[in-house]
Amino acid sequence: MTNLNNAERLNSIAPSGIRKMFARAQGIPGVISLGIGQPNIPTPEGLVKLVTQRIQKGDNYYSPTMGTATFREAVAEQNKRWYNLEYDAQSEILATASGCEALYCALMSFINPGDEVLIPDPSFLTYPRQVMLAGGKPIWLKPTEELKINTSILDEYLTDRTKAIILNFPSNPTGEIMTRSELKPLIDFAVDNDLLIISDEVYERCIFTNDNHVRVPTIGDAYERTLLLNSYSKTYCIPGWRIGYAAGPKELIAPMVKMHSFIVANAPSAQQNALGEFINTPEADAFTVNLRNILKERMEKLVKGFNSIDGFSCRVPEGTFYTFPKVSTHEQFTNSVDFAEKIFTEQKVVLVAGTEFGPAGEGYLRASFGSTSLKEIDEVISRLKEI
Ligand SMILES: Cc1ncc(COP(=O)(O)O)c(C=O)c1O
Repeated sequence: MTNLNNAERLNSIAPSGIRKMFARAQGIPGVISLGIGQPNIPTPEGLVKLVTQRIQKGDNYYSPTMGTATFREAVAEQNKRWYNLEYDAQSEILATASGCEALYCALMSFINPGDEVLIPDPSFLTYPRQVMLAGGKPIWLKPTEELKINTSILDEYLTDRTKAIILNFPSNPTGEIMTRSELKPLIDFAVDNDLLIISDEVYERCIFTNDNHVRVPTIGDAYERTLLLNSYSKTYCIPGWRIGYAAGPKELIAPMVKMHSFIVANAPSAQQNALGEFINTPEADAFTVNLRNILKERMEKLVKGFNSIDGFSCRVPEGTFYTFPKVSTHEQFTNSVDFAEKIFTEQKVVLVAGTEFGPAGEGYLRASFGSTSLKEIDEVISRLKEI
């Protein structure tokens, strides 16, 4: 034992398998990665110009804890414009240094040690880990056949420690969406049992169906108990900027502001202001439509390709830039981790084991097509046929 040992809270938390694979694949010639979730489309020119001007003019200092007025007013306007949803820019929107920070702030501000947090299985792998960092207990919600939340068995999860539920549609890793009417029983369940709803909507602009995105706080009586978490990483292809936000009634935002002030003090200033000037422009809206169209073309090719491989079966994702093929019937399949490893070592293709996202992910792999060209998709499919 030495005082140089890391804190115990870290020991029970598995490292991110996605980042591990990301690091391993670096520098190996010929590797095609469908691992990490980021789009490779260039950041909108207008946005790059705005941030450059801001930095050159000296916007390089701390911003107010909650964020700059320019950013928060623009976020309020965007929510009004897209969803007719009203938040007060002064007290109900907190600029965060990424979606991950918004989530961490929310959990650290509301979860007491031993509190139980309901998480859809499978989910973004950061959810259970951050719940545990906050001292809480992640409780997996068993999915339906389509890997959506099974709303008919929610009562089975309730205990006197159930505190919150995390929602994420469109979903990472499945790409599934739940409609307003499918979500309504979930919202009623949260209302009836006084649960905090944490709704992570970072893929809101990446929807392949004809449906518009459903903002959770606009469903039934969700508004007063929902923390809406968002990020501009994927929307405008700026994951390196680390900018997101939390929005909700001021009683829910105030504790997060206190937590945020001790974690990062404020989100990056020039980036907030550049986004504030950009996000309600025609260029911004046109960018997201174009991005969605590029991703949709890749998605269609990849799904068709997966379904042409013996032992693979892949649903058409309704949104995001992930597919989640079922591979348990492939003749070489033993388990998701070993199968992903075999594909990497034998064919230099990075796919993520479904179990990274929860126990229901056994038998599946996750493929991100955010950074994969159409040509690379063809190459991936022909390599996978060799397995
Ligand atoms: C569902 C989901 N939420 C949040 C994030 C975090 O995004 P960021 O921290 O880049 O804002 C991600 C990133 O992959 C994600 O998939």
